[in-house]
Amino acid sequence: MTQSANNAAKAAKTFLTPEIADYCELHCSPESETLAALTAFTMENRSDFAVNLSGRSVGQLLRLLVGLSGAKRILDVGTFTGYSALSLAEGAIADARVISIDANPMSKELAQPFLAQSPHGHKVELVTAFVQDWLPLQPDASFDFIFLDADKHRYPQYLTECWRLLSAGGVLIADNILWGGHVVSEHPPTRAIAVDAFNKAASSLPDATAVCLPLRDGVMLLRKSA
Ligand SMILES: C[S@@+](CC[C@H](N)C(=O)[O-])C[C@H]1O[C@@H](n2cnc3c(N)ncnc32)[C@H](O)[C@@H]1O
Repeated sequence: MTQSANNAAKAAKTFLTPEIADYCELHCSPESETLAALTAFTMENRSDFAVNLSGRSVGQLLRLLVGLSGAKRILDVGTFTGYSALSLAEGAIADARVISIDANPMSKELAQPFLAQSPHGHKVELVTAFVQDWLPLQPDASFDFIFLDADKHRYPQYLTECWRLLSAGGVLIADNILWGGHVVSEHPPTRAIAVDAFNKAASSLPDATAVCLPLRDGVMLLRKSA
């Protein structure tokens, strides 16, 4: 590649400013009334942790992909106040089942009223358990679609387990895989090191197609070979 072509390629990769990120978020489909209410509730009552919400762009991506995949058995790893669980339920086919798991019992209490308000909430089952204990108990190939959004320092371990649990042709999506950009820091924090290890392992899976997207805090899309 010539120097100018190289510079053009680099420039094209580095235009992702906070303004562009906000623009992209605003130009995704609007949230359902229930997701908007859940977001407002979380901002008001769990403001210290509101950054945990996967939010409009990732939520709409989940909704779109789960619908396209036709998945019936869906796993949401990390409930928090239920944003991703409800986004998945909204996009999923009528007889799909979404299992959403969180170690914090408060997640169930917080998410349940919003699920009850939604015409898709009945698809979701909330489970209180530690992911690292619960995943190994599930049979091989028991899910068609998995969204991973729990403790980042265990992402490499969760990749191994989730890959075992995913059916052939299934989809695994992981959030926060750029960890605020620290995956390319000279001295990355522990979580960025774990997330980077996850990204390296995910993109090297021989039976996967992997796409690493700079959407919000970074999203890894994986499809297991059929
Ligand atoms: C980033 S939040 C999930 C956000 C959620 N997906 C959403 O869209 O709003 C991560 C959640 O994972 C849960 N969590 C963290 N480590 C866990 C573990 N080892 N087992 C189960 N849940 C865990 C936390 O309690 C927290 O609610």
